[in-house]
Amino acid sequence: MEAGKPSMTAQLVAGLRAAHFQSGIRPLVFEDPYAAHFTGGVFVEPLARSTLQAELDRMALQPIQGGILGRARHADEALERGITENGIRQFVLLGAGNDSFLLRRPDLVKQLQIFELDHPASQREKRAKLGELGFEPRSNVHFVAVDFERESAGEALARTGFDREVPAFFNWLGVVTYLQSNAIFETLRSIRAVAAPGSQILFDYPIATHLLTREEDRARAREVQASTEAVGEPRPVKHVPAELAREVGALGFEVVSDLSPEDLAALYFAGRSDGLRPNPENRLMLLRAR
Ligand SMILES: C[S@@+](CC[C@H](N)C(=O)[O-])C[C@H]1O[C@@H](n2cnc3c(N)ncnc32)[C@H](O)[C@@H]1O
Repeated sequence: MEAGKPSMTAQLVAGLRAAHFQSGIRPLVFEDPYAAHFTGGVFVEPLARSTLQAELDRMALQPIQGGILGRARHADEALERGITENGIRQFVLLGAGNDSFLLRRPDLVKQLQIFELDHPASQREKRAKLGELGFEPRSNVHFVAVDFERESAGEALARTGFDREVPAFFNWLGVVTYLQSNAIFETLRSIRAVAAPGSQILFDYPIATHLLTREEDRARAREVQASTEAVGEPRPVKHVPAELAREVGALGFEVVSDLSPEDLAALYFAGRSDGLRPNPENRLMLLRAR
């Protein structure tokens, strides 16, 4: 991230959700009527012209966009299941970015204590935009400004009203991709130290390029690497699923699910004619604290 500036990737991710909503194609993989307001950077103008989806399609970005939509859809569903089946009463967005959960899901917001953790510059901009959309401060919504390079998620939560006795759901989407292994495991360790047993963590992670079966996907992985480096948020490590499962196990978590691109395709993309599909490079892992 550039010092003092909100995350560009968070703005672009919102743009991909906004284009999908605006595209007119139904059914939607993920419905985010607020994403347009949180879009930034190069996507703003084409979105205003209503040409962004067509431009994304021309650039063959469907797998990137599909990955972002699929993971967001799954996060909402996993959280809902956690609330109804596992007693989840706290929701932590780690690197919340421009996720519009607070606006999108008033039905879930009222059942939870919510903690949005993000870099101060990203969070400042997000709070301003939430205000523009009429979102008012409320006692169960906590904004926690944090620089994960200086403070762990667990430490940051310890200075809030986060309750260590109450199961929490941690949404950690679109972040692991940018972290070195030690930062990933430190974060998980710090969460395990403050989270009640039964708490859950959902995150997406990039699969080691050599495990991708199609040359086309390996080439795309190299391209994405170059473009994230260009915006100053490079992707430092990729993972072998079985090794990752072993490592998180040693930290006190069990793997509830580890969805492959094929699993996500079957869940959310079957029968689509618009080319949207999950990112072949990413998996989605859900952990439960033992
Ligand atoms: C790609 S965005 C993901 C946003 C959101 N979770 C989503 O899926 O739409 C990455 C987020 O991580 C945050 N981030 C990156 N580096 C950070 C750091 N050192 N400390 C705190 N947050 C950071 C950015 O501010 C940004 O909101």
